[in-house]
Amino acid sequence: MTTVHWAIAGPGRMAAKMARAFPLVGNGELVAVGSRSPGRARAFAEEHAIPRAFGSYADLVADPEIDAIYIATPHPQHTDIALAAIAAGKPILVEKAFTSTIGDTERIIEAARAAKVFAMEAMWTRFNPGVVRIRELIAEGAIGDLRGIQGDLTAFRAYDPKDRLFDPDLGGGAVLDLGVYVLSFAQHFLGVPDVVHAVGGRLPSGVEGEFSVLLGYPEGRSATLSAAFTAYGPGRMMLVGSEGWIDVHPRFHRAPAITLWRGKSPEEFTFDSGYQFEVIHVGECLADGLTESPVMPLEDTLAVQRLMAEVLAQLDPPSH
Ligand SMILES: NC(=O)c1ccc[n+]([C@@H]2O[C@H](COP(=O)([O-])OP(=O)(O)OC[C@H]3O[C@@H](n4cnc5c(N)ncnc54)[C@H](OP(=O)(O)O)[C@@H]3O)[C@@H](O)[C@H]2O)c1
Repeated sequence: MTTVHWAIAGPGRMAAKMARAFPLVGNGELVAVGSRSPGRARAFAEEHAIPRAFGSYADLVADPEIDAIYIATPHPQHTDIALAAIAAGKPILVEKAFTSTIGDTERIIEAARAAKVFAMEAMWTRFNPGVVRIRELIAEGAIGDLRGIQGDLTAFRAYDPKDRLFDPDLGGGAVLDLGVYVLSFAQHFLGVPDVVHAVGGRLPSGVEGEFSVLLGYPEGRSATLSAAFTAYGPGRMMLVGSEGWIDVHPRFHRAPAITLWRGKSPEEFTFDSGYQFEVIHVGECLADGLTESPVMPLEDTLAVQRLMAEVLAQLDPPSH
């Protein structure tokens, strides 16, 4: 497979961003879009010059011309489409948060592994060139022994109970939407914590609007992380080591620039970022016959899903 023929499931806000990134995907082509509504599918297809439009997710999954499906519905609605795609033998790239529950994540992982079908969470941060460079710097020992990570993803969103961000039935809340980025970043560099202390507050719809968490790892390493819809903030990240530190400039999940602080003269590097890098990576994995990504393996997705569930369990219960 040299060119992967991709379809988008869920023609919403994120899908539009992804459609605009496809011209930069050298090993893939966007050939179809699916929606619950034929009219919405057609409108999205026309807007983004996509050849085929399907008015049901079942019809999209059944199309033999489609090689792989990018799933961009709200998180709780990822699962059914993911399972149907796997049953049809189609590789999937599933938006973050992968699902809204640990159980759903486990079901998708089990199905993908049993069918030997590629599945990956669309945690695009890990594929942005700035984060690729951070991985290299850490591996080279540029900041010595990594001792901790500190950061936030604070992105104000006006409260609107009809928006998926605030609707519990659509997986709303700051933990699954923004927290997944800070938690996945820490998981990528520090692994699975053995101590989790979370605090936060809830909004009238019952979803959490903000949280902070302290994570503890073996040998005294730690991460302090936060995310919020309720405040304006920079979205910075810092990796602290025994011989220096790396500042990841806002917003860290794009990693547009990093500064390496070691010795007396800081070095700054700037990078491209975008959704094309994760899609290109999936195409490379498929060309190599892989069923999981070595950069965003399903075990990492499950670990982060468990962490999000633990953070949510420690926040005050919803008031209604
Ligand atoms: N990587 C990133 O930077 C990024 C940024 C934003 C969002 N996301 C992720 O992308 C996913 C979608 O977010 P979004 O902001 O694009 O959401 P959105 O604008 O609300 O769009 C979601 C789409 O899903 C479809 N859908 C299917 N079943 C649905 C249901 N039961 N209720 C509502 N919609 C349903 C809808 O299309 P039809 O009604 O036409 O079927 C809708 O257009 C989320 O998982 C989110 O976390 C990622």
